Amino acid sequence: MVIFGGSGDLAKRKLIPALYMLHKRSLLENDFKIIATGRSILTSDQFMERAEESLSKYINKSDFESGWVESFLPRLSYFVSDPESINDVMSLGENIKELAGNDYRVLFYLATPPSLYEIIPGNLKEAGLVSSSTRIIVEKPFGYDLASAKRMNDILRSVFTENQIFRIDHFLGKETVQNILALRFANGIFEPLWNRNFIERVEITAVENMGIETRGGFYDNTGALRDMVQNHLIQLLALVAMEPPIAFNEKEFRNEVVKVYRSLKPLSEEEIERDVIRGQYIESHLKGGRRVLPYREEKNVNSQSMTETFLAMKVNILNWRWEGVPFYIRTGKQMPTKVTEIVIHFKPTPHRLFSSRDECPEQNQLIIRLQPNEGAVLKFDVKLPGSGFQVKQVPMEFTYDKLGGVQSGDAYSRLIEDCLNGESVLFTRSDAVEASWNYFDPILKHWRENPVTPLYGYPAGTWGPDISDRIIDGGKKWSNPCKNLTDTDKYCEL
Ligand SMILES: NC(=O)c1ccc[n+]([C@@H]2O[C@H](COP(=O)([O-])OP(=O)(O)OC[C@H]3O[C@@H](n4cnc5c(N)ncnc54)[C@H](OP(=O)(O)O)[C@@H]3O)[C@@H](O)[C@H]2O)c1
Repeated sequence: MVIFGGSGDLAKRKLIPALYMLHKRSLLENDFKIIATGRSILTSDQFMERAEESLSKYINKSDFESGWVESFLPRLSYFVSDPESINDVMSLGENIKELAGNDYRVLFYLATPPSLYEIIPGNLKEAGLVSSSTRIIVEKPFGYDLASAKRMNDILRSVFTENQIFRIDHFLGKETVQNILALRFANGIFEPLWNRNFIERVEITAVENMGIETRGGFYDNTGALRDMVQNHLIQLLALVAMEPPIAFNEKEFRNEVVKVYRSLKPLSEEEIERDVIRGQYIESHLKGGRRVLPYREEKNVNSQSMTETFLAMKVNILNWRWEGVPFYIRTGKQMPTKVTEIVIHFKPTPHRLFSSRDECPEQNQLIIRLQPNEGAVLKFDVKLPGSGFQVKQVPMEFTYDKLGGVQSGDAYSRLIEDCLNGESVLFTRSDAVEASWNYFDPILKHWRENPVTPLYGYPAGTWGPDISDRIIDGGKKWSNPCKNLTDTDKYCEL
């Protein structure tokens, strides 16, 4: 395996730990070697030292076992090369041969800035490093907009066949995301309810309680729509909304995902103005007094930046199952907590028999919590003990940790393992990338052409601009799993 961008952040935090976990589970063949490559001048020994450091930092303490670490490190080496230089890529090829002989299979991992995704495939081909057994993993973003996504697909497909290309979306590697499929398609009880007749609305929230940390330069050119919505959130929406595939294989499963994307109701200019709310965090003082910096004061962020750190929008799906059921998706930085969850709101009972309630909401909800405390909660009403007839909503809860087994959250290990086995079900196909961009591109275009479209400021530590409740039909509000961390929930237009 050759990691381009091997000296970078992703390799350090995710890839090396994931490969170690595969090694520890004896899932790597004895002669499996990992070459990290980059322009940074490092020796293999120095790289191994760094790798050991990242293992001590980024894997669970209980998994850091010196015997396993010692046997893992010799699999690693580092080769200095600039992937833009064809001569360097040729030398890299020589290095692969030195390590692996003439008879090898290679997996390339593109973990560089995305601009290089357009250059590296061509250089690999020119250097004669691509054969029918070669595979390539490409990190998101899969394009910056529709045009660049198409261009990137064209470049990749001019060098590799589709079944050699693995576009990684680490959300799909998470156990709990895969569990949505089990919940829906391994149980007979949900499927009959899973449609417009019984479901009123669906909310998908994936938020963080951190800012952009050291990634200001990257984030300021990206924003929430590109970073989270166009890929992760719409993927979650597809899992909730898809038809049952006729088989769980790469073709059938991914066909159903693409079908959902193609069924998304295109947004008119008016709908973009009305149903897509963008926000950016501003300064706040949390309860207790800690000051949180506004986005525009973060390192490497333009002081006049109009980049959205929050996005909430309403999505409609035009098909028989979902006609008239709005899907609301929301993501944001500097929110009160880190949570990813899907809330399915079932329709209320047609007649209210028990009028005295002491708690809202009164509709049944199924909450699929992806992180933290992965699991599912079904909320339903019961009678309170005692005289009279008071009802109260109670949760029936399952948390994933009760099952034990492989640590969930180990998404990269799972996906790299799948790729090594040639399993591409959980990777994004090129037509899915384009279909998703087809839906989201008009929003980017609208913002570009109408810079006056409001960008709402929200104090860090709150659930985003209040106005994001406006997009929810019937005067209802977002289901927030906890309260604001500040006393203010004001917002302003930036
Ligand atoms: N970090 C994450 O958590 C994360 C999550 C999801 C997706 N991704 C994606 O994964 C990719 C890598 O992310 P990252 O955070 O690891 O990025 P990074 O640290 O900024 O870059 C990775 C490496 O790429 C090399 N590089 C940078 N500019 C280059 C250039 N102009 N020419 C050649 N090489 C260059 C650098 O190594 P040398 O200077 O040694 O060449 C750098 O160490 C990105 O596309 C990112 O969007 C990252």
